[in-house]
Amino acid sequence: MSFSFDCPHRIGSRHDPHAQTREARQQELLLHSMSVYRELFELVFEHRRITTTVEIGVESGRGSAMYAELGASDVYCVEPEPSDELRSYMGEQDALHLVERPSPEALDTIPIADLYIVDGDHNYAVVRRELDWILNNAPDAVIVLHDVLWPCARRDLYYEPSSVRPAERHPASADGPTVWHDELTPAGLVGLGAFRTAKHAGGERNGVITAVEDALEQAPDDRWHCVLVPAVFGLGLLVRRTDTSAENLVEALRPYGRSRLLAAMENNRIALYTRVLQLQYEAAGRAVDADRLAEEIARASNEKQNLATALDEAVAESEALRRQNRLLRQQLDDLANRTVANRIRARFRGTSPGRFAISAEDSPS
Ligand SMILES: C[S@@+](CC[C@H](N)C(=O)[O-])C[C@H]1O[C@@H](n2cnc3c(N)ncnc32)[C@H](O)[C@@H]1O
Repeated sequence: MSFSFDCPHRIGSRHDPHAQTREARQQELLLHSMSVYRELFELVFEHRRITTTVEIGVESGRGSAMYAELGASDVYCVEPEPSDELRSYMGEQDALHLVERPSPEALDTIPIADLYIVDGDHNYAVVRRELDWILNNAPDAVIVLHDVLWPCARRDLYYEPSSVRPAERHPASADGPTVWHDELTPAGLVGLGAFRTAKHAGGERNGVITAVEDALEQAPDDRWHCVLVPAVFGLGLLVRRTDTSAENLVEALRPYGRSRLLAAMENNRIALYTRVLQLQYEAAGRAVDADRLAEEIARASNEKQNLATALDEAVAESEALRRQNRLLRQQLDDLANRTVANRIRARFRGTSPGRFAISAEDSPS
């Protein structure tokens, strides 16, 4: 072939037409880890010297490994509730240091970093305190925030509501948001016990992007570049306008931030995903209905069986009674016949032939 597509992605061939769908099948249904932004982090590491990284909110550790691969010599992974798998995984990686405390309190206990990844508790109070801490203590760091778009942009989410003072907390619910209407719904993006969501969106001190706006508004320095990439719940990048490395990084990220294509795909993704959630919820409801119906059918068929047995017994009993009735009639007839015959015989006894007659009392009744 004299040409090839300038495309690093798997597109398949005439002989392997399913290569793309194979890859699609391998992806999780809802992308949400920072590791999907790898190419953006490659640009961050290319343009800035980053040795120490702090990752707030770790979950599986997929992001943590990526920062180490891209060149961070020390990654402090702040996760108050690590799983056993995460603990043992972190124990095997020299560059990764698990910090089992909640942020922002944990930030005071670890070294100042060149890169902060803010992806922990996605609510105004916590993100605001994290940003205030970083802007004051590490103003030259690059700050990357996740979930700066729907659903957390203007609506708090609480992994640990008790870590937020009641006055700073919005009334929250186990129900989740959906693209299809503005209220929370049990058929929406629910936390299944892992987190709760503010009942109302908008207003003051609500949501991640609101926290970013207020923190920058009140930051000691007002020279900040802010990039927002509209993909996978939204990635925000903040870097102080100090030198050309910051300018160059922002320039490199600009095509992503301004991409109408990415924004359209993200809107489509959240619309489709929340539609899937709604269908799953309805299907689960129908399954419960079907179970209930099956139980009712089983009960009714049991009752029908009991009634059929009772009917059979009643028929058999009535048949037995009829037989007994016939027998009694037979016996009665025999008895009557015998009585008449006896009377006739008695009358004949001592009576000359031709002189007998049967009176009315001799005939069987
Ligand atoms: C969305 S997940 C993080 C995903 C991860 N950054 C990735 O890219 O794969 C959010 C995590 O933040 C953790 N978390 C919740 N509150 C936190 C806090 N105050 N400080 C640090 N982590 C927190 C949760 O336990 C959860 O594992």
